Amino acid sequence: MTTALITGANKGIGYEIARLLGQEGVTVLVGARDTARGEAAAERLGARFVQIDVTSPESVVAAAKQIGDEYGALDILVNNAGVALGAEPPSGTTVEVTRAVYETNVFGVIEVTNAMLPLLRRAPAARIVNVSSEVGSLTAAGDPDNSFYALNMMAYQSSKAALNMITVCYAKEFRETPIKINACDPGYCATDMNDHQGPRSAEEGARTAVRLSLLGADGPTGAFVGGEGSLPW
Ligand SMILES: NC(=O)c1ccc[n+]([C@@H]2O[C@H](COP(=O)([O-])OP(=O)(O)OC[C@H]3O[C@@H](n4cnc5c(N)ncnc54)[C@H](OP(=O)(O)O)[C@@H]3O)[C@@H](O)[C@H]2O)c1
Repeated sequence: MTTALITGANKGIGYEIARLLGQEGVTVLVGARDTARGEAAAERLGARFVQIDVTSPESVVAAAKQIGDEYGALDILVNNAGVALGAEPPSGTTVEVTRAVYETNVFGVIEVTNAMLPLLRRAPAARIVNVSSEVGSLTAAGDPDNSFYALNMMAYQSSKAALNMITVCYAKEFRETPIKINACDPGYCATDMNDHQGPRSAEEGARTAVRLSLLGADGPTGAFVGGEGSLPW
């Protein structure tokens, strides 16, 4: 049995990652902070619900215990839960807003990853996928010819840049093990996060994360990957 926990899987890209992994025969654990929304999504998917608020250490520890008690190990962790706050220019972006974004997009990923690692180590070849964004690419943000050059959402973009570095750091620690840790960019997808303005569907956005979740032994680790392949940091 291959098990996968996807955080923020009650809707949007996370829900589609859960659905597509389920189609691949993976035993899907639908992570969601809200019990009613999580149970409803899990029921639609024919999957298990796991309560997990990535900003709550107690909730994360309880989720790890639940998974450990029921499954003993975890093969795939998809750190998908994310928030996008703070559209003001940097001079108007408060520390409070920035902190709120980092709590979920950065600290939440570390909290969940470290809590799940004992279970991931027990799997034969675990995969960790961090759902990042190309808007976190320093290369893209600094290139006047890049379509993301005009975007300047400091809190969100810097949180994803931090997530990219976090991906590299974990990958280095585990490079001599079968565990692979990669970051993905779903592309601009129509979800609640952007009032459904993105041109791609959440399903399309989910595909790269699914591919990285199911990577073979010859796949990369410490990579940043989009729908068209490798992306610049
Ligand atoms: N949409 C895009 O174009 C796009 C592009 C690049 C990257 N991404 C990334 O893709 C990921 C998914 O985004 P999305 O577009 O699918 O957004 P979404 O529809 O707003 O979904 C976000 C999910 O994260 C959950 N979440 C937020 N805070 C959480 C917390 N503290 N604990 C647990 N779950 C939490 C939400 O739960 P609730 O329902 O309870 O709020 C929801 O399930 C995010 O990391 C986002 O940054 C999105």
